[in-house]
Amino acid sequence: MPTKTASASRRDNDAPIRTVNALVIHGPNLNLLGTREPEIYGSTTLKDIDRELVRLGGELGIAVTTYQSNSEGALVDRIQQARGHADVILINPGAYTHTSVAIRDALSAVALPVVEVHLSNVYRRERFRHRSMIADIVVARIMGFGASGYYLALRAARELAPQPK
Ligand code: DQA
Repeated sequence: MPTKTASASRRDNDAPIRTVNALVIHGPNLNLLGTREPEIYGSTTLKDIDRELVRLGGELGIAVTTYQSNSEGALVDRIQQARGHADVILINPGAYTHTSVAIRDALSAVALPVVEVHLSNVYRRERFRHRSMIADIVVARIMGFGASGYYLALRAARELAPQPK
């Protein structure tokens, strides 16, 4: 008989379903969503996105923690802290997508499944946005759906999280 834990819920067949912990990381300038170039990024604020992620997570059995920073070092620190706490990381590194070896290395170091999210389709934009420093180490990439991209990524997160043995 499996032990019931505080973080476990059950389906009809009595198998425990472990709560998945998802860490959602937003990079620089995403704190300005809602007012920042709305024709590209939409009018939904970051607060609205985070609130919806937490709500949706509740529906899906995913505990969602969100974090935003404009600073590369702070983002690296937060990724490092995810080790042993998060099961999956969703990250929109903003402009650091195109430049940051440090964020790439931090994601590789924690060795968690990662989904790369972008509000805009970066391939329809300037050439310098076509390069992602993390594209080849992430499990999947979602872009061009605006805020909905985060929600799609969260729906996929349960499948990506390591299954309990
Ligand atoms: C972005 C795309 C990046 O090129 C840009 O620097 C951002 C946002 C996106 O979500 O579409 O800040 O990551």
